[in-house]
Amino acid sequence: MSPTDLQSQALAELTACTDEPALKAWSSKYLGKTGLLTDALKKLGTLPAPERPAYGQAINVVKQALLAAEEMKSAEIAEAGLQKSLATDVVDVTLPGRPLVQGRLHPATQTMRRILSIFADMGFQPYQSRDVETDLNNFELLNMPAEHPARDMWDTFFTTTPGVILRTHTSPGQIHAMKQFCPQPIRVVLPGMCYRFEQISARSEIQFQQVEGLAIGTSITMADLKGTILNFVRRLFGQEREIRFRSSYFPFTEPSIEVDVSWPVVDEASDRLTKGTGWLEIMGAGMIHPTVLTNGGYDPAIHSGFAFGLGPQRIAMLLHGINDIRYFWSNDLAFLEQF
Ligand code: DAH
Repeated sequence: MSPTDLQSQALAELTACTDEPALKAWSSKYLGKTGLLTDALKKLGTLPAPERPAYGQAINVVKQALLAAEEMKSAEIAEAGLQKSLATDVVDVTLPGRPLVQGRLHPATQTMRRILSIFADMGFQPYQSRDVETDLNNFELLNMPAEHPARDMWDTFFTTTPGVILRTHTSPGQIHAMKQFCPQPIRVVLPGMCYRFEQISARSEIQFQQVEGLAIGTSITMADLKGTILNFVRRLFGQEREIRFRSSYFPFTEPSIEVDVSWPVVDEASDRLTKGTGWLEIMGAGMIHPTVLTNGGYDPAIHSGFAFGLGPQRIAMLLHGINDIRYFWSNDLAFLEQF
């Protein structure tokens, strides 16, 4: 076949191509590595030398023509496809979008932040202490020497290193803060995870957060403690709340108290929650024991202070009506997504 015949045959066949696959097949039949044009070019060597340049040139002209025709055809097919999809595919621009799934903060984190921000408003700086503690800081310097019976209040996780334990409360942070800031006045809150070797139940977990409060100055009295806690409670639960102090015992405070907050009894559940009293215990507190002040480097003849410790998980349970503390660390999305 002469180059011109090849060209007319190819162009005729191209007219019949109406989609991409057909165009591809056409392209490989004529322009491909083993296509007809390549075949034609191979004939070059069999021709008498004088005819070769003209033949080569003719083949080249055909090749250019076919390439140009292919490009045009390809654009034509693409345009036809676009027109077809515009005509037949319907886009409903009024459909609502698909909302992105958004992450959120853990309810424990949300509650912790709320508590810390209330105390920040009152001038209490957050102070980060450590989870792995010494027996010395967790007990001894908090006025609980070895064999002190009060140690039984805190079931402890011990490590294989003698004298090193997981903190059972955030109170040892008091010792760190005092040693760091002595003899300056202190107003800090110490948030953190605590660990206790306890039977896990709806009411107690082996790990839970606490927020410790510590204020030391030269004229701090129990009235300051009461004002601070009342202020905190009202900001957290509502301006109509009242608090009451009940006498209690902690080795690191003297006097020691437990704080109750008034709880509106509106139904059977809230009545049961407050055991019919209308009050709920929310924290332990007291005036820092002189021995503890001394252990932190302060002179109890000059300095005084108060401390308190509360459980954010319990507060979150009260705020949100959560009835099982085990939800907090079980990573149950059905629970977490409610916050
Ligand atoms: N550390 C105590 C506990 O875990 C709570 C507590 C009570 C902290 C009285 C205090 C305090 O700072 O003054 O049970």
